[in-house]
Amino acid sequence: MTTTATLTGFQPTGHLHLGNLLGAVRPVVAAQRRTRPVTFVADLHAMTMPHDPGELRQLTLEVATLLLAAGVDPDRSLFYLQSQVPEHTELHYLLECATRYGEAHRMIQFKERGRGRSTRLSLLTYPVLMAADILLHDTAEVPVGDDQRQHVELARDVATRFNTHYGQTFVVPRAVKPEVAARVMDLSDPSAKMSKSRGAAGTLFVLDPPEVIERKVMRAVTDSGDTVSYEPDARPGVANLLEILAGCAGGSPAALASGFTSYGALKRAAAEAVVATVRPVQARFTELSRDPGYVRRVLADGAERAREVTADTVHRARKAVGLIA
Ligand code: ADP
Ligand code: TRP
Repeated sequence: MTTTATLTGFQPTGHLHLGNLLGAVRPVVAAQRRTRPVTFVADLHAMTMPHDPGELRQLTLEVATLLLAAGVDPDRSLFYLQSQVPEHTELHYLLECATRYGEAHRMIQFKERGRGRSTRLSLLTYPVLMAADILLHDTAEVPVGDDQRQHVELARDVATRFNTHYGQTFVVPRAVKPEVAARVMDLSDPSAKMSKSRGAAGTLFVLDPPEVIERKVMRAVTDSGDTVSYEPDARPGVANLLEILAGCAGGSPAALASGFTSYGALKRAAAEAVVATVRPVQARFTELSRDPGYVRRVLADGAERAREVTADTVHRARKAVGLIA
C-alpha cells in the first residue's frame, strides 16, 4: 500500500476564485515539489444541486484547464476527473454502509443548502462520496479551507469505524490548513467566505480582467475607523484585505498593516497584488484553451493511472466487508 501525501478536489460548480487559488491550488502546487499529490475535478459533487448538463460540461473543462494553468503538473500530480474513475462511486456505496444517517444529517453544508422537498438525496450523502475520494488514495493529509474541515472529520470517523469493524483497511486522513488565507472572505460581506455561488461583486474570479479586479477591490466593504490594523474580529473587512495582500505578495497580515496609513492605499496594494498573481495564470489559460484536446488527453491519461491505484483500495474494502473471499 502506497500512501498519498495530500489530495484536493475542486467542484466545477462555478468559476474558480481567489479563495480556491490561495486556499487550495497553491498548497497543491507547493506539495508537488515534495510529493505526488492527487488533484481531481469533483464533477459528481457538482450534481448535488440542480444543474444544467451543458454548463457542467463547460465548467468541468474550464476548471480542469485553469488548474493546469495555475501550476498543477500532470507529471507530478495524479490529475483526473472524478467521474472517469468509477472506483469513487463504488467505494461511496461501501462507505455508506459504514456511515450513520445522523452523521450525514449533521453536516453544516447540508443544513445550509438542503432546503425543501426538491433537495437531492445526493446532497445528504455527498460527504460520504468525499470520504470515498479521500480514502481511495490512502491519503494522509487533506489541505482544505475551514468550510470543509467537518467533511474531513467525517472521513476520519468513517475510516476509523470501518477499520475497527472489518480490520485495518484505510489510512485515517487528517485535515490541514494553509497558513495564510485559509479562508478568503467575500469582499462585499466579510462575514461570508468567498465562494463560487455568491454574488460576483464580492468574489474575485481568477479569470476576471485586471480592471474588474481593481474595481471590486476598491469597492470592498471596510470597517468604520481610518487606521489600518489587523483585527479579524473587530475589523473583518480590513483583515480580509490584509490577508489577501499577504496571500498574494507574501508577508504576514499583521506586519503588513503597519505599512499603510489609509484604506485607499491598502486597497490599491491589494488589487495590484491580486492582478500580479492571476496575470500569469490567465495567460497560460488562454494558451491551453486553444487546445482542449490536450486537456482532455491529460485527463484521460490521469484517469487511467488513477484506476490502477484505486482498484487496489476497492479490492481491499470489498474483501474486508465479505463481498469477496
Ligand atoms: P466553492 O466553495 O467556492 O464552491 P469549492 O467547494 O469547489 O469552492 O472548493 C475548492 C477548494 O477551495 C476547497 O479545498 C475549499 O476548501 C477551498 N476554498 C473554497 N472557498 C475558499 C475560500 N473562500 N477561502 C479559502 N479556501 C477556499
Ligand atoms: N467538497 C469539496 C469542496 O466543496 C470538494 C471536494 C470533493 C474535496 N472531494 C474532495 C476536497 C476530497 C478535498 C478532498 O470544496
